[in-house]
Amino acid sequence: MSQSHVFVTRRIPQPALDLLREHFSVSVWDDLAPVPREVLLREAAQAEGLLTMLSDRVDATLLAAAPRLRVVANMAVGYDNVDVHALTQRGVLLTNTPDVLTEATADLAWALLLAAARRVVEGHKVVEAGRWETWHPFYMLGQEVYGATLGVVGAGRIGAAVMRRALAFHMRVQYYSRRRVPQLEAALGATHCPFDELLRSSDFIVVTVPLTEETRGMFGAREFALMKDTAVFVNVARGGVVNEEALLEALRRGRPWAAGLDVFAVEPTPKDNPLLALPNVVATPHIGSATLRTRTAMAMLAARNLVAVLHGQPPLTPVNVEVLAARTSNPGA
Ligand code: DGY
Repeated sequence: MSQSHVFVTRRIPQPALDLLREHFSVSVWDDLAPVPREVLLREAAQAEGLLTMLSDRVDATLLAAAPRLRVVANMAVGYDNVDVHALTQRGVLLTNTPDVLTEATADLAWALLLAAARRVVEGHKVVEAGRWETWHPFYMLGQEVYGATLGVVGAGRIGAAVMRRALAFHMRVQYYSRRRVPQLEAALGATHCPFDELLRSSDFIVVTVPLTEETRGMFGAREFALMKDTAVFVNVARGGVVNEEALLEALRRGRPWAAGLDVFAVEPTPKDNPLLALPNVVATPHIGSATLRTRTAMAMLAARNLVAVLHGQPPLTPVNVEVLAARTSNPGA
């Protein structure tokens, strides 16, 4: 029986590549920069499986170029780079990488929260530039984290992990999501809160929702105006959840007081993004899941999903389960 062919759109941790090579003929865009679109389309033409990154657009054009494609394993928990509907229509399975990146991403959310609250980057720049002239009782005052109120928007795995960390800081924890999550309330003492109320009453607001049509632009001028003038806003979800111009204006006016941003509307965000010039913004380059252990786990999960699907087994972490159901009822499909 001939081996299935898999195309991997970026250099990935070796153990995942080794696993794929045990099972398939594999070609790799062996580079740290994204695969050019024309190469992706050309490679997809031969592939039964693709291992993609969040920067690869997986859409109807790609599907049209990939007649043999059966599965796309996206190496990310988010899949806003994928036209899920188009895949489902074509009977192509999509998988993602939940769970394995939860803790690393929650750590980064906290790194941004603490850095923005206590002006760590601004302070570093002052010291580095030799502008540290004195110590006085009002010098570089930040926001107190211990005992404050944390509001988490989105109560999925990452949101829950962010909330869990807050217990060590003796914070009052509240969350907003469409549905209440009684387990969170029981385990962490978190309270479910209407969106506007959370914005009004939280000292720290951390965004962890996926980017969907519903969440696109959910933070705009109205939402920032509801926040406290001492609030710190942290986004580790997707840039598209925030209206960046509105955030810029809001930060200039001092409400919210500061922001920690790991994600941007356009990535990489250009150097002249005016947000980056504000002293009350701490920015990182979409590194929520960026530890070697987590990236290896993500790549391994994506590879295992490809192995399962291309050997006729259900994937570990499917997104469009409808395709799975259709295949089970019609195994020849
Ligand atoms: C994800 O998995 O969606 C993250 O944003 C990648 O780091």
